Amino acid sequence: MSLSFDTLILDRDDNGIATITINRPAKLNALNAEVLEELEEAVKAIRKDQQIMAAILTGTGDKAFVAGADIRELRDLDGSAGQATSRKGQQVMQLVEDSRKPVVAAVNGYALGGGAELAMACHLRVAGDNAVFGLPEVGLGLIPGYGGTQRLPLIVGRARALEMILSAKQLKAAEALEMGLVNRIAEDNPVEAARSLLMTILENGPLAIRHAIEAVYQSGTGEGYQVEADLFGKLCETEDFAEGTSAFLEKRPADFKGK
Ligand code: COA
Repeated sequence: MSLSFDTLILDRDDNGIATITINRPAKLNALNAEVLEELEEAVKAIRKDQQIMAAILTGTGDKAFVAGADIRELRDLDGSAGQATSRKGQQVMQLVEDSRKPVVAAVNGYALGGGAELAMACHLRVAGDNAVFGLPEVGLGLIPGYGGTQRLPLIVGRARALEMILSAKQLKAAEALEMGLVNRIAEDNPVEAARSLLMTILENGPLAIRHAIEAVYQSGTGEGYQVEADLFGKLCETEDFAEGTSAFLEKRPADFKGK
C-alpha cells in the first residue's frame, strides 16, 4: 500500500494492522473537507488490501484525537450545503463502520463533535487517560450531523445519549468507560493498547471475525436472527471451521487460513 496523504498518515505493521493517524495538529486534527476526503480514500484502501486484517484510527499528538468538524468551514454553510456536509460526513463514518475488518479508535485526547462521531463509527474504542468525549454541537446552534444522533443511543442507550447531546457536557475517560462509550482505558499509550486488543482478536478465525461484526450490526434490525443463522451456516462450510474444531479436539493451537 503506497498511498500518500496531506492530512493523514497511513501505515501498516508486520501483523497486518493498519494505522490511520489524522494529522492536522495545529487545528487539533479537526475534520475539514480535505481530511474527510483523505479519510474516505484511506478507509477504502484498507478495506481492499488483502494484507491488512484490522485498523486503528487515531490523531497526531497527545492533545486531540479529533476536535470535531472544522468550525471555520461550518460557519459559511447554508441549508442545502449543510445537509450535503452532513451527508458526506455520514457517508465517510458509514464506510468505517461497514468495514468487516475490525477498526479500533485509539482516543488520545479530545474527541469532540465529529471526532466523537468518528470514534463511534469504529467497532471498538480504547481511550487514553486524557481522553475527553463530547458533542458540543448544540452550543454552536447545531446538532451532531455525522451519525452521532443515531449511533450514540445504540452504544449507550437513548437517555444517556440525550443527556450527552442536550447538555453538550464533556466526559472524561472514566465516565465514558462507565457508560459504555469506550471499551477500555489504556494504561499507557492508547494506540499500543488498541494494537494489543486487535492482536488478541486476530488470533481467531478471520472469516468468523468478519461475519461476527456483520451479524452484530444487524441486531435490532428485524433481520438479525436470520442473518446470524445464515452466516453461522456459511461458516460451517469453511476450512477455518474444520481447522478450529479439529485443533480444539487435538489440543493444539488452530492455524487459520481465512478460507
Ligand atoms: N474546528 C476548527 N478549528 C479548531 C477546532 C475545530 N473543531 N478545534 C480546535 N481548533 C483550532 C483552534 O481554532 C485553534 O486554532 P488557532 O491556533 O489558529 O486559533 C487550534 O485549533 C488550537 O485550539 P485551541 O482552542 O486554541 O486549544 P485549547 O486547548 O484552548 O482548546 C478545545 C481545546 C478542544 C477545548 C477547543 O479547541 C474547542 O473547543 N474546539 C472546538 C470543539 C468543537 O466544538 N467541536 C465540534 C465542532 S462541530
